[in-house]
Amino acid sequence: MAGKLITVEGGEGAGKTTQLAFMRDYLERAGHRVVLTREPGGTALGEEIRALLLGHRHDGMAPATETLLIFAARAEHLERIIRPALAAGHWVLCDRFTDATYAYQGGGRGLPPERIAVLENWVQSDLRPDLTLLFDLPVAVGLARAGRRGAADRFEREEWAFFERVRAAYRERAGRNPDRYRIVAADRPVAAVRAEVETLLAAWLERV
Ligand SMILES: Nc1ncnc2c1ncn2[C@@H]1O[C@H](COP(=O)(O)OP(=O)(O)OP(=O)(O)O)[C@@H](O)[C@H]1O
Ligand SMILES: [Mg+2]
Repeated sequence: MAGKLITVEGGEGAGKTTQLAFMRDYLERAGHRVVLTREPGGTALGEEIRALLLGHRHDGMAPATETLLIFAARAEHLERIIRPALAAGHWVLCDRFTDATYAYQGGGRGLPPERIAVLENWVQSDLRPDLTLLFDLPVAVGLARAGRRGAADRFEREEWAFFERVRAAYRERAGRNPDRYRIVAADRPVAAVRAEVETLLAAWLERV
């Protein structure tokens, strides 16, 4: 039986990585084999590409270059990790995926979504997440959380309006695909967010 692909999205400091650890535990308790991974990255080559994307060696990288690097990492991730895991019946939990490309490179950098869609179709064929949780919160709250963690990466150094565009793009996509997305208000204590995530995973598990 094929597994499921669940992706977690949202801006910096939304709590994605924190909640993914709880989600893994929850799904394992429900009897699933879980593979927890992230983008950009998830493979040795993908993590090298991640370092190029997040580091400061290439600070004025063109949006098209950035997008192609992300999809190069994604192609490797799909080929080596995601597709084999799904074929083996495992559940894949991914910390950011293609919705992030629409939000950051589309909304944030202004790349036309049709161009991203060309790469999405090419690299993924018909593979799309089965479920996407969008952790939504005010930009100020997320940046304050992320800022406590240390040095800013290449995205975290962007201007305020960039993050507002990212948030708006995420919300707009989620609003258009209510079957696939669940929007979680992430501006609440960790335990409250966790409880809501587990409630909606339970409801979703009933359906699949
Ligand atoms: N609900 C919450 N309330 C307060 N602080 C939180 C909450 N969730 C996570 N944090 C803290 O905020 C910081 C960022 O959380 P986390 O790394 O999970 O976010 P993220 O969405 O993965 O961020 P990034 O996009 O930068 O990877 C961490 O220090 C974490 O402990
Ligand atoms: Mg994270």
